[in-house]
Amino acid sequence: MKRGSLVFYFLLVTVAATPVGAFPWDQDMVDQPSEKAQESIAPPGPGSVPVNGGETLPIPKNDEEAADMKAAAASLQNPVPANRESIDRGKYFYGINCLVCHGEDGRGDGPVGLKFIEKAPVDLHDTYTQEQADGQLFFTLTRGRAKMPFYRDALSPSERWDVINYVKSEFGEE
Ligand code: HEC
Repeated sequence: MKRGSLVFYFLLVTVAATPVGAFPWDQDMVDQPSEKAQESIAPPGPGSVPVNGGETLPIPKNDEEAADMKAAAASLQNPVPANRESIDRGKYFYGINCLVCHGEDGRGDGPVGLKFIEKAPVDLHDTYTQEQADGQLFFTLTRGRAKMPFYRDALSPSERWDVINYVKSEFGEE
């Protein structure tokens, strides 16, 4: 074969093969199905179940639905026993998240609470709060209420239950 046609065939094969990545040395290690830096996480496989995080309560569309859902939340069981450790954790989280409005003693007279013009933050000693089921308080902390912010981002579910254990044991009658 003449030298010229060898070069011709080599070029022909190269041009034809390049778009389909046919050469073994075209396989770069970087081209693989694994996650690369800054790429989004692969969606969970079918049938996989989250073990923590995620939303635990449905989202109400209006005040009426919120009231219904709060009533229904009464059946939610508090999974965190109200022991010393939980109450201490609750006191800690209350100090960070609630004290500014509800006050150190839960009277609704925290430095920010005093600025409320329309409805002040409730006095947490009142039967209104104390007689609510833990699940209903959990609903309020998860979803917020009127001018009160929600805590589903700032507090994990178990931290919310800790705060509820603190509110019930510290500001309750017994
Ligand atoms: C920015 C101020 C603010 C913060 C912070 C705040 N609250 Fe409130 N809270 C309010 C206000 C205002 C209300 C009254 C809402 C209304 O209009 O019904 C309220 C109401 C409540 C109620 C009664 C809800 C009901 O059933 O009507 C509970 C219980 C409560 N807060 C607990 C907490 C706890 C626990 C925290 C901390 C995790 C907290 N709040 C943080 C302002 C606040």
